Amino acid sequence: MFLSFSTFDNILLFIHICNTVNIYFYRMMKILVTGAGGFIGSNLVSRLSFATKDAEIVCMTRNAEKLKKKISNNNNNSNVKIVEANVMDYVQIKDALSEIDTAYYLIHSMEGVSAKEWKKFAEKDRKAAENFAKAATECKVKRIIYLGGLIHEEKGITNSKRGQSKISEHMQSRIEVGNILKTSSAKVTIFRAAVILGKDGASYKMLRYLVERLPVMVCPKWVLTNSQPISIDDVITYLVKSIEKEETEGREFDIGGPDTLRYIDMMRRYAKVINKKFLKIIIIPFLTPRLSSYWVELITPTKASLVRPLIESLKYEAVVRDNSIKKIIPIKLKTFEEAIIAAKAKEDEDKEN
Ligand SMILES: NC(=O)c1ccc[n+]([C@@H]2O[C@H](COP(=O)([O-])OP(=O)(O)OC[C@H]3O[C@@H](n4cnc5c(N)ncnc54)[C@H](OP(=O)(O)O)[C@@H]3O)[C@@H](O)[C@H]2O)c1
Repeated sequence: MFLSFSTFDNILLFIHICNTVNIYFYRMMKILVTGAGGFIGSNLVSRLSFATKDAEIVCMTRNAEKLKKKISNNNNNSNVKIVEANVMDYVQIKDALSEIDTAYYLIHSMEGVSAKEWKKFAEKDRKAAENFAKAATECKVKRIIYLGGLIHEEKGITNSKRGQSKISEHMQSRIEVGNILKTSSAKVTIFRAAVILGKDGASYKMLRYLVERLPVMVCPKWVLTNSQPISIDDVITYLVKSIEKEETEGREFDIGGPDTLRYIDMMRRYAKVINKKFLKIIIIPFLTPRLSSYWVELITPTKASLVRPLIESLKYEAVVRDNSIKKIIPIKLKTFEEAIIAAKAKEDEDKEN
């Protein structure tokens, strides 16, 4: 009896110490979230503002008014501030990074670009990362945490007779951005994820509309490639916990959920979650990612410019090879079905509000 009472006391003391350490860890810390209005960024801000009440969270966007509305709907933390800056403008990004301890790099320039402009994304993302790395060095930012794509660079290997690269242009660009960020004086952590499943994510939307709207699927070959989807909630846990874990500094980690699936399996399993009888799937090998993206745009409300990098990436296997993050940040990862159910619950919750 005595023993259990003192054990209980010890547990309370332990919780108290953990909370105190957490408070002191984050006290006075200034965290910048770039892409704060985007899919990953907005989820990150919500969780950070909840997890780190003593830190100052600075949300970066090119349109402060728009982000203000979005943030005020989602959290009440007075420590969340907004800064307007365009990463392409060196002075602006340097101002945004002033006095920042840790910066999350969640920028990419694919949204809204026309088919003609699409090819220029890599050039823009390169310039953006260069500005950011230089400004971070000048502002003495201690850490940068970047989320890129899960792909394995098989140097010098080609997958076609025409000498086509083994990875997509989009993925090459994501790798290049990570490498540029590493040139800064900050300690850089890179997380690499494949398909991220969450309410506002392009992957989830594409999956949802394809399965829900179509009775028969005409699918290209990329539906047969293995990928390791991960829930947005788990991605955010890794991004947030990484700040507290020194072992993640200066390192790169593959992150993925517990299921390795082909896109065709994801469609089938999604149909099962919503109790839809899944009809026929016809594979058409000659459907290119470009044609596929126009076709997806026709059927779903997702823009071809957003879907195309996704489809390009789906052509290449994206599975976790190095699981070392699991030891540093051990979490119970959501299964594919759990991730879909969570996204659907969030949709319902938003409809009610
Ligand atoms: N979504 C996925 O499934 C997925 C999967 C794997 C990896 N990732 C990685 O996660 C990161 C974030 O992706 P996401 O899906 O959240 O993208 P997103 O929703 O398209 O958001 C991109 C953000 O980039 C910001 N941005 C673009 N150009 C900018 C500029 N010139 N200056 C300042 N900000 C700029 C935009 O901010 P404003 O418009 O507010 O200025 C926007 O919020 C990317 O690095 C991506 O590769 C995503």
